[in-house]
Amino acid sequence: MIFLNNKLVPKKKALISVFDHGFLYGDGIYETLRIYKGIIFKLDEHIERLYRSAEMIGLAIPKKREEIRNAVYKTIASNRQKEAVVRITISRGTGPLGLDPSLCPKPTFVIISNKFRNCPAEYYSKGVKVSIVNTRRNYGPALDPRIKSLNFLNNVLAKIEAKNRASYEALMMNYQGYLAEGTISNVFFINNKDILCTPAIKVGILEGITRGMILDIAKGLGLKSREGCFRRKDIYNAREVFITNTSMEVMPVTRIDKVRIAGKAGRLTSMIHDKYKEKVSDYIEAFNN
Ligand code: PDD
Repeated sequence: MIFLNNKLVPKKKALISVFDHGFLYGDGIYETLRIYKGIIFKLDEHIERLYRSAEMIGLAIPKKREEIRNAVYKTIASNRQKEAVVRITISRGTGPLGLDPSLCPKPTFVIISNKFRNCPAEYYSKGVKVSIVNTRRNYGPALDPRIKSLNFLNNVLAKIEAKNRASYEALMMNYQGYLAEGTISNVFFINNKDILCTPAIKVGILEGITRGMILDIAKGLGLKSREGCFRRKDIYNAREVFITNTSMEVMPVTRIDKVRIAGKAGRLTSMIHDKYKEKVSDYIEAFNN
């Protein structure tokens, strides 16, 4: 079942108008969430980011936080899913042709819940290959990457390049040539001084919820971390590299284009991922008590 506007409808009946401005102009926002053992991980953080994205595009979300929370739980319950990935999408809504948001009186609200399918285990043990692509991450003052928007062509173009190079993910540089992020992930590396490095928000990236957790985990492990402006050579010379997002958690990267980083997942990467899984378990346990 799909949650469409105010109710659950069967997938085949979950239809929206060809005049929806999400379809016509990519005008809207979304969030992707992960469900573990029937519990939505970091739901409040995702809802906060959804509201932040909405505010940045001048969209009034037609629901209260509590209503969104209940709608997500209703959706996963109707699909009897305990391990799932949920996408909340809010578009500007239906209106006549034209860019003016006021043409659309009511945003379209959709929740899709899919059974979680993990990547092959060897991706996590051996690591994946990524490519630094030619497509640059959107220039912040043109379209701020902090907005989790439906306007995803920047990322789609990068993904096409990665696919053409048989890579799992693309890494994009920003307009100045600083390392930014993946098409659906944030990027981290361990430099030769064992410092955990990741692009700063000001480079022009999405402030990933997983990214924030990784920085906290590093602190807890006594690892030094640095959010900064990094060049291609910095990541090529890294000891370990990994990418993160809500659904893949921590994915080791062992090859960047022709550069071999390692033969298997790095020691610190594995340690950080273990700690991440521990945090997920603690969260589920706290929720159940
Ligand atoms: N993507 N950067 C981009 C461009 C993203 O689209 C995402 C998330 C992230 C990581 O954010 P988080 O840790 O909050 O998931 C970084 C989701 C998974 C998606 O597009 O489905």
